[in-house]
Amino acid sequence: MTARYAIILAAGKGTRMKSKLYKVLHPVCGKSMVDHVLTQIEKNDMDEVVTIVGHGAEKVEETLGDRTKYALQAEQLGTGHAVLQAKDILGDKEGMTIIACGDTPLFTAKTFAELFQYHESKGAVATVLTAHTDNPFGYGRIIRNDIGIVEKIVEQKDATKEEAEVTEINTGVYCFDNQELFKALAQVKNDNAQGEYYLPDVMEIFQKEGKVVAAYQMKNFEESMGVNDRLALSKATKVMQRRINEKHMQNGVTLIDPDNTYIDIDVEIGSDTVIEPGVYLKGKTVIGSDCIIGAHSQIKDSIIEDGVTVTSSLIEEAHMRQNSDIGPYSHLRPLADIGQGAHIGNFVEVKKATIGKNTKVGHLTYVGDATLGKEINIGCGTTFINYDGINKHHTNVGDYSFIGSGSNIIAPVEIEDHAYVAAGSTITDDVKAHDMAIARGRQVNKKGYYDRYPVAQAAAKTEAKEEK
Ligand code: UD1
Ligand code: MG
Repeated sequence: MTARYAIILAAGKGTRMKSKLYKVLHPVCGKSMVDHVLTQIEKNDMDEVVTIVGHGAEKVEETLGDRTKYALQAEQLGTGHAVLQAKDILGDKEGMTIIACGDTPLFTAKTFAELFQYHESKGAVATVLTAHTDNPFGYGRIIRNDIGIVEKIVEQKDATKEEAEVTEINTGVYCFDNQELFKALAQVKNDNAQGEYYLPDVMEIFQKEGKVVAAYQMKNFEESMGVNDRLALSKATKVMQRRINEKHMQNGVTLIDPDNTYIDIDVEIGSDTVIEPGVYLKGKTVIGSDCIIGAHSQIKDSIIEDGVTVTSSLIEEAHMRQNSDIGPYSHLRPLADIGQGAHIGNFVEVKKATIGKNTKVGHLTYVGDATLGKEINIGCGTTFINYDGINKHHTNVGDYSFIGSGSNIIAPVEIEDHAYVAAGSTITDDVKAHDMAIARGRQVNKKGYYDRYPVAQAAAKTEAKEEK
């Protein structure tokens, strides 16, 4: 098989984005644009991929890691100049090279595969991937001769009136004979409206040399959308989101309102799970089968096992085991591990805590830095007090224990299996198995004291009105 190489252009600043973040690092559905491009290219059995970096080079390298080699373009003198920076790594290699831009996140592996195949079948030295659009503004235009062969590509700013009317555009993706590419690049000049070395100019160079130049026309313009500003970013995100959502629906997931469901690209969801509107599933979240993810829930980098119900809650870096449930309006923070069948009710926050099988934490409770066994009942308004202002301390609660409502559990403390904490207790000492702990002030009733308070006068007035 012919060797396959790729060059991804990612050195530009992206001035039109008006952003502190370098353009190609802007995320689309949870993954930076340049990562989307690399991910789809990688699926084509590549021998080597080189990413051209410049603005934000370290950040781009940090994002993509060792999945690609890097060549630095210290000064951004144009796309042709950018590709030339890969010469030290690729220049003497024999094979085909695909070039793509880091700001076109919607291209699929299938399109790259088709381009390689078309290029080879035509015996071309250069094949440009083109598409038709009603609104070609900003793109390079494909100028063909009388018999339909690509003569050259003209940038928006250099186009004559007639050229600007052409609706076939350069998608910014090409396939080249690798060695021919670097030979032609050496001849590219910068005598154009932007004073840049344009990569598309190599097409005209090949054409004049009588070499075979081809164009592979995509049916779907949408896929080639280039993101130069925030408007295009939102359009690309919409397209990507629709693709992701359609994939999940095809896999047997119900999305009540796919237009208002936001799922990052790497999220996995099992069949017969129902996702209600306004849900945001982020990062590396994995959701099992037969779950219900209720309206307006947000789940990030978490594992949700089969049969879980989430009702309007926020879950971050947490784990919910089979058939557990949460919500409405609760918050799982990093390292919350909710056991099988466990119940987290409303207004509950859990952080760095394990909640055992079938344990119930129903209402208005904070559990932090704790290990709770199975079949425990935690009463309403219980606080696990874990922080002394400097350090965090841990609490254990054993199986089948009962914590009465309104208790404060001050860590570090150990409540053993089958222990009972009376409501309203402030627990500072360990509680042994089968014991009951009660730690609260004794009640004193003061005879007739009600009448000393202003409420008594207010009540008297109201009562007098009621009698009239
Ligand atoms: C480019 C093409 C245009 C095509 C369009 C498709 C050129 C001259 N024009 O225009 O024909 O229709 O893409 O989206 O190639 N970059 C560098 N170094 C540079 C300049 C750019 O690495 O010196 C990178 C950018 O980071 C970006 C990519 O190359 O990822 C494309 O550059 P951009 O400025 O977006 O070019 P367009 O104007 O979109
Ligand atoms: Mg662009």
